[in-house]
Amino acid sequence: MTSIPTLSSFDDDSLDRAFAALEKQARADAATLDGTEAVEAFRLRWIGRKQGLLNDVSSKWLKAAPPEAKKPVGERFKALKELVERLLEQSAGAGPSDAELSAEAIDITLPGTQRLMGAEHPITRTMNEIVGVFAALGYSVGVGPEVETDYYNFECMNFPPDHPARDTQDTIAIAGQERRPPRDRLLLRTHTSPVQMRTMEVQPPPVQIVIPGKVHRNDAADATHSPIFHQVEGLCVDTNVTFSDLKGTLDYAMKALFGSSVKTRFFPSFFPFTEPSADVQISCIFCGGKGCRKCKHSGWIELLGCGMVDPVVFAFAAEKQPAYDPKKISGFAFGMGVERIAMMKYGISEIGQLFAGDMRFSGQFA
Ligand code: PHE
Repeated sequence: MTSIPTLSSFDDDSLDRAFAALEKQARADAATLDGTEAVEAFRLRWIGRKQGLLNDVSSKWLKAAPPEAKKPVGERFKALKELVERLLEQSAGAGPSDAELSAEAIDITLPGTQRLMGAEHPITRTMNEIVGVFAALGYSVGVGPEVETDYYNFECMNFPPDHPARDTQDTIAIAGQERRPPRDRLLLRTHTSPVQMRTMEVQPPPVQIVIPGKVHRNDAADATHSPIFHQVEGLCVDTNVTFSDLKGTLDYAMKALFGSSVKTRFFPSFFPFTEPSADVQISCIFCGGKGCRKCKHSGWIELLGCGMVDPVVFAFAAEKQPAYDPKKISGFAFGMGVERIAMMKYGISEIGQLFAGDMRFSGQFA
């Protein structure tokens, strides 16, 4: 049926027959609906605003009915409309057809998309571990800027302008600063030691702090050197802090990091900002001190620099915090390379692997 026949008589019997035919048709149409598209076609055919059959019934039967037949036609029309709407609701609930379903289907036999677990980078992990050892001793944790002024990186750490000691820590200078006073010129910090001064300037003694961070040096890259690397700095200032406090603290820390059987020894060294200065060696963790390729058959591995804070450094701090009077207080400082420690702990032989971003390497730490 594509359109509605014209009604010649409007008596009850004729109306019953005419509407029954439409109801039968509607039920028959609804019975074959097999998907969302078919349901939509049914909706358009029956209650579409322009061409819907019910629209036709309204205009051809209801409007054309003589006044006395309006009510019986209207009642039957209303019942028919309700029937169509009910049929529509029921078939809409049937959902998409099999064909429609398979077009959108998910193939549950395909392997899923694997989401890799994130993990701490070995440098981060080592840095946290070192910081953790000192935090347990009561040290607080601080950080400072990677782009540092000449003053903090060098001058107040007792590297005077043009002093040859600066040659040991060459770095990248920020361009276009000729109009600034030399001590305010910016560079990429070569060590975390400037944060010693930044800490003392805002905090009177006692101070016990560790400072993890990234540093930069004009060093040629090789198996154990990278122009960007990480350090953990330490600073302890109080009344009567002695070199034996420094030794005891670092000996404890090395045992905490590498195992209680590790021994330490202190060799005279030089840093402009500590006096006396020392290099700390630990007994080789690979051969236990007997001598092997890793320790160049010496039984010892050099691991960090340290020393008693130079009075010159305290004098710079005292410009902002008078309590740093070298006659009244003393302190020690140390600085260690994180990559070197990570490489020893995890048996990494090429420093570049830590920065290459190769998942076959990084994934081993997940
Ligand atoms: N800042 C030194 C360096 O980078 C290490 C160090 C820190 C030495 C503190 C002594 C005291 O080589």
